[in-house]
Amino acid sequence: MSLDVAQLRAQFPILQRQVNGQPLVYLDNAATTQKPQAVIDAITAFYTECNANVHRGAHQLSDEATRRYEKAREVVAAFIHAAAREEVIWTSGTTEGINIVARGMSQQLQAGDEVMVTEMEHHANLVTWQQACKAAGATLKVVPIHEDGALNREAFSDLLTDKTRMVAMPHISNALGTINPVKALTAEAKSKGALVLIDGAQGVAHGIVDVQDIGCDFYVFSGHKLFGPTGIGVLWGRKSVLENWPVWLTGGEMIATVSYQDATWGELPNRLEAGTPNIAGAIGLAAAIEWFQSLDVSALQVHEKALLTRATELAAKVPGLRIVGSSANKIGILSFIIEGAHPADIGFLLDRQGIAIRTGDHCAQPLMERLGVPGTARASFSIYNTLDEVEQLFIGIDKARTMLG
Ligand SMILES: Cc1ncc(COP(=O)(O)O)c(C=O)c1O
Repeated sequence: MSLDVAQLRAQFPILQRQVNGQPLVYLDNAATTQKPQAVIDAITAFYTECNANVHRGAHQLSDEATRRYEKAREVVAAFIHAAAREEVIWTSGTTEGINIVARGMSQQLQAGDEVMVTEMEHHANLVTWQQACKAAGATLKVVPIHEDGALNREAFSDLLTDKTRMVAMPHISNALGTINPVKALTAEAKSKGALVLIDGAQGVAHGIVDVQDIGCDFYVFSGHKLFGPTGIGVLWGRKSVLENWPVWLTGGEMIATVSYQDATWGELPNRLEAGTPNIAGAIGLAAAIEWFQSLDVSALQVHEKALLTRATELAAKVPGLRIVGSSANKIGILSFIIEGAHPADIGFLLDRQGIAIRTGDHCAQPLMERLGVPGTARASFSIYNTLDEVEQLFIGIDKARTMLG
């Protein structure tokens, strides 16, 4: 099976629209991906056919809604190779998943304990662990990166000690595109007795994720970066760990018994999911995953690599352009700065030409400081982008440079 990009694009209604009088060239996929018709249809079908609350009603609609919602959990479990469906906890996204784990962990951390993150963290994984450490009097250790954006493996080993209670790191950097060798890093961290959380926000849409093969304890991601809706995400946790994880939200559905003075908690996954969930979001995410799984993953990877290779070649020809993040192992993210041009101006002038990129610090302020840049312009490619769009990006950059004089 090879990738028919034209056929793929036809499934995304938004890609047919114009922006500022030009056909949309959407290159902001690391921020969020567009949604195929299959996802839009699944959400519409839920609201038009069986909208009801789940797990509660003694009526047909509630049964149907519950069936679709719980089927969605099974789809996610199979997609990430979870050992059991109850290891999949619905969240609002990556940020919430990390917060659930860090909140629980902060009750166990003590002064002298260590938590490790990396220099390439998104604020979601940095600030959350930084605050958990502050509250507990624990030490936050930050693994440095090399100049090309790859993680410094030697430093990782050196910083890991038998006091390291948690290693929390990104599968893939949103700012640089670097793919971390998470399986090897996890094995090393676990050999010291640490728990491991992988921030999979950028990890899920670029290949197969097998949480059991990685060997981590937690893997978190957001539906909206995987062609699914916003407001839904997943916290996967190893069952033996999640079973005893402190509850973070209390209320309906997560309890076993309640009296006026006390309560006991239910079983997984309910014990970590209080209140009415994002039912349509879960169903939409499952539709996105089923859609993604219908594609040939190795063909996707070849296509994404071709987009990045062409973009890197064209970038080399632009006077004054510096690529920020050039690790050998990276996804289709091209972060760059151009001498004498502010990234925000580049972004604005590209937008005038219908080309959507992201500019700024990419929720990674300390990383920008570490790299000595105020921020970057970032073009991030997805499977529906074309080589022609890559060419258009660089025509647009040339025009922007001319305008900025
Ligand atoms: C690496 C990484 N971690 C965490 C997040 C936060 O994801 P969300 O805003 O969907 O919770 C993002 C979003 O860009 C990300 O790229």
